[in-house]
Amino acid sequence: MSHQLKQTFANAKNEGRNALVTFMTAGYPRVAETIPIMKGFQEGGVDVIELGMPFSDPIADGPTIQVANTKALENGVTLVQTLDLLKKARDEGVTVPVILMGYYNPILNYGEEKFIQDAADAGANGFIIVDLPPEEAIKVRNMMKKHGLSLVPLVAPSTTDSRLELLAKIADSFVYVVSRMGTTGVQSSVASDLDTLVSRVRKYTKETPIAVGFGVSTREHFESVGSLSDGVVIGSKIVTLCGEAPEGKCGEVAKKYVEEILNGKKHKILSGEEYQLMKTATNELESDSDHHEFEEDHKHPIRFGDFGGQYVPEALHTCLKELEEGFEDAIADPTFWEEFKSLYSYIGRPSSLHKAERLTEHCGGAQIWLKREDLNHTGSHKINNALAQVLIARRLGKTEIIAETGAGQHGVATATACAKFGLKCTVFMGAEDVRRQALNVFRMRILGAKVVSVTNGTKTLRDATSEAFRFWVTNLKSTHYVVGSAIGPHPYPTLVRTFQSVIGNETKEQFAALNNGKLPDVVVACVGGGSNSTGMFSPFEHDTSVKLLGVEAGGDGIDTDYHSATLTAGRPGVFHGVKTYVLQDQDGQVHDTHSVSAGLDYPGVGPELAFWKATGRAEFIAATDAQALEGFKLISQLEGIIPALESSHAVYGACERAKTMKPDEHLIINISGRGDKDVQSVAEVLPKLGPQIGWDLRFEEDPSVGN
Ligand SMILES: Cc1ncc(COP(=O)(O)O)c(C=O)c1O
Repeated sequence: MSHQLKQTFANAKNEGRNALVTFMTAGYPRVAETIPIMKGFQEGGVDVIELGMPFSDPIADGPTIQVANTKALENGVTLVQTLDLLKKARDEGVTVPVILMGYYNPILNYGEEKFIQDAADAGANGFIIVDLPPEEAIKVRNMMKKHGLSLVPLVAPSTTDSRLELLAKIADSFVYVVSRMGTTGVQSSVASDLDTLVSRVRKYTKETPIAVGFGVSTREHFESVGSLSDGVVIGSKIVTLCGEAPEGKCGEVAKKYVEEILNGKKHKILSGEEYQLMKTATNELESDSDHHEFEEDHKHPIRFGDFGGQYVPEALHTCLKELEEGFEDAIADPTFWEEFKSLYSYIGRPSSLHKAERLTEHCGGAQIWLKREDLNHTGSHKINNALAQVLIARRLGKTEIIAETGAGQHGVATATACAKFGLKCTVFMGAEDVRRQALNVFRMRILGAKVVSVTNGTKTLRDATSEAFRFWVTNLKSTHYVVGSAIGPHPYPTLVRTFQSVIGNETKEQFAALNNGKLPDVVVACVGGGSNSTGMFSPFEHDTSVKLLGVEAGGDGIDTDYHSATLTAGRPGVFHGVKTYVLQDQDGQVHDTHSVSAGLDYPGVGPELAFWKATGRAEFIAATDAQALEGFKLISQLEGIIPALESSHAVYGACERAKTMKPDEHLIINISGRGDKDVQSVAEVLPKLGPQIGWDLRFEEDPSVGN
């Protein structure tokens, strides 16, 4: 029912007024309030309702709508139920156009075509999909058009002309203009340069109406924004009002608020019969004969097979473009490499590669070698990437650095790089990880960084990552976001792998020097997001005789809900800006994860690893918490090396593999980090996991007695 949307904007124009679009998350604050709120909107005089489809990781949204998403999910709202609520609202007389607004993953998971069909049947008029990139938008929009529905593109102040041109062309009803860089949320004033933005957008949209949103909350805003646009969108303010309303009163509250905004002005609403007549009359399939193409220039491919890409809210696209250019420029510049390599002595590179004699003997198969990234300054491989990105940030003229961290290793590495180069550093860390990794939190603070404890959602790495993206998009001018793993949208996976490849390149050279130019037979690394594994594996990618083995966090076991084994137990999806394997539920909501090691506790994974899994180039297995602890114990007691719990997963997986290999074969384990940070965690889990592996470190008697 694109037609009804078009008609609504045309009617408002003819009546000399602005169309009012109001937003509410389905199922918030309670499922039973959704239909009354929709009715309240309609009775108050709203022209279009935007119904939010809850998602677990809404990176384009500010705190108010994030909370609404979380609460709606807690209330058990699924995509099916959202459509059901819409259908019931239609049956109960809601006839104004309804746009479903949400993120791509749940739709992808539902099946795009089926979702569009079901949404059309339920009575939707169109969709806003926040993180749909233009090249995918063309495909999805054509499916929508076939069902007579409309894709409403979002454009931001940073949207480039070429993207604007395409987005304006594929807008079947109206274009949503995001008035400012940042996330959704109430603001005290409207964006000051809105008129410039609107004129730039209108150059492309021409006769297509535009609605402006983000930050609008009062009648004055409505009037000032409305003087430039054809429609005005209000979201967070209504979500707040309904969130505060007594149970059962949200419909009234929504109606009263809308009446205030519109100063009591109403417009004609279709009756149920008129709506049905219109629906039937306009239901013939529209032709999808118009053809659009969109391709942007990228020096490095943005995808690895089917995986990768840039599934980000439009405003974030500029951040990525700027970084991509900065990265390409840096790696093409020999002085950048000279500067980076001059830091190797600071890091302690090359890190050593040596044989693990007693571990080899214990496993009784292949010769086992260790690549000692644990010996790096700050205790892990994370410093390689942190320093390189800080150098790029300086080339881009940034003065502030932000980072996310799980185990705290990447946070410490970034805080270190910032201290060395005199940059302000803020590290986002999930509140649960702050608790688990107290030592690293203190280290970051000693180094001069500010640690922000993220209390949203699951309070772990994924929430810290979402929060860092939100902060970045609002503070792009001064800030660079140092992503700590080979995750996220392009260029991050390529960039992080490029700088971590020093691990594999050194390993290859060192092993050849010690073994008459030979290659190893197997290389093993643990897999969290994928920075140490892609760094170790990629230099061997085309040496097909070398087997690549990634070990994920199996937590309590991959047949339970408590693990982080994304490649082993996940499904392809879109998460944190990238198409990759994702741990997700039936409804496309991203899972909570669990691992004894905070650094592996992430429900996504780097797209390059997803590609290697799909092509069979690499193999991925999972080690449980107890097995990782066994790896931890083995290498501590046989080699005198206390590894990070993350790396302990690789040690366990490697030992099991080595046992199946011959003594003249060679296997290398990447020891990605040292275990000092984990001593407290090990002490905490030993009472539970120790008995499973026969390890008891309780003092039988006080060893100080008798000394
Ligand atoms: C020592 C160590 N190894 C491995 C990882 C996992 O990350 P990635 O898969 O990006 O190497 C972490 C993450 O914090 C870590 O601290």
